[in-house]
Amino acid sequence: MEKKRVVSGARPTGRLHLGNLVGALETWRELQDQYECFYFVADWHALTTDYSDPGQIQENILEMVTDWLAVGLDPNRCTLFVQSTVPEHAELHLLLSMITPLAWLERNPTYKEIQQELGEQKDLSTYGFLGYPVLQAADILIYQGNFVPVGQDQLPHVELTREIARRFNHLYHRQLFPVPEPLLSPAPKVPGTDGRKMSKSYNNAIYLSDPPEVIRQKIKTMTTDTARVRRNDPGDPERSPVFSLHKIFSSEEEKADVAQGCRTAGIGCLDCKAILIHNVLQALGPIQERRSTIAARPSFVMEVLADGGKRARAIARSTLMEVQEIMGIHNKRIV
Ligand code: TRP
Repeated sequence: MEKKRVVSGARPTGRLHLGNLVGALETWRELQDQYECFYFVADWHALTTDYSDPGQIQENILEMVTDWLAVGLDPNRCTLFVQSTVPEHAELHLLLSMITPLAWLERNPTYKEIQQELGEQKDLSTYGFLGYPVLQAADILIYQGNFVPVGQDQLPHVELTREIARRFNHLYHRQLFPVPEPLLSPAPKVPGTDGRKMSKSYNNAIYLSDPPEVIRQKIKTMTTDTARVRRNDPGDPERSPVFSLHKIFSSEEEKADVAQGCRTAGIGCLDCKAILIHNVLQALGPIQERRSTIAARPSFVMEVLADGGKRARAIARSTLMEVQEIMGIHNKRIV
């Protein structure tokens, strides 16, 4: 039996952090064995918000894909590529834009939210930004994807993809597109060093490629339970982002010990952090080792992406040809 397909993408944000590792990459890595996986860098999606400042994109692609490989995405078991090297995504985006009602896009919650969030720095009243989810639908449907591993924030886009797939199948009386299912990672949200969600833009991230001294320093200066001012004050681990990271990186025994030590003021915050530092460094060790091997040969990353792009393109082309045929835009007699 054919394996079901998994499709997911990430905008090129550069070096990845612990939040990306736990939220997405570990899931992507697990899915490789069971499914035919397509993972790509959504560089066109980056342009929907950063069109006026594209200078970082190329470097960010290289950094991000280096991290993908370091974490264990394996180009022999999944297809890794850059969206814009498969122009079929763009042509399908155009064709799907013909059947997508404007009202579906205008009521997409992320459209208004991001406009409000970034609207003061960037003019997002563009055609491309409104069409962001149509491009995402094309990314998924061009591979006839069955499953889409994403974070909570992307659910509205997967829902729109489902609606577009159904509308296409219905309009043309075909079952060309599977209606794809989102796969939400069960992982808890990873807090950054200030207790807010870990994010590059909050400047609170611990990066997979941070040198050990930097990681040590970042964890040492993390906020804890703010009610625990003095060493002798008892604390509440559930109010400390350090404990949230323990939940991800520490053993059951260590978690029980630091929680108990915190509640009774039996240990200080630095003692608690020392255990976390040890465990984070332990977890990142093998990733960092692979990363430095890969980073020493940037042409390897380019080869992986070129090869992945070729494989992706062959599949994308065959879906696109069916869509062209169905929508009456096949030009066999002309070319
Ligand atoms: N919009 C997604 C994000 O910001 C990235 C993305 C683009 C994507 N195309 C996709 C994710 C297709 C899943 C499937 O994270």
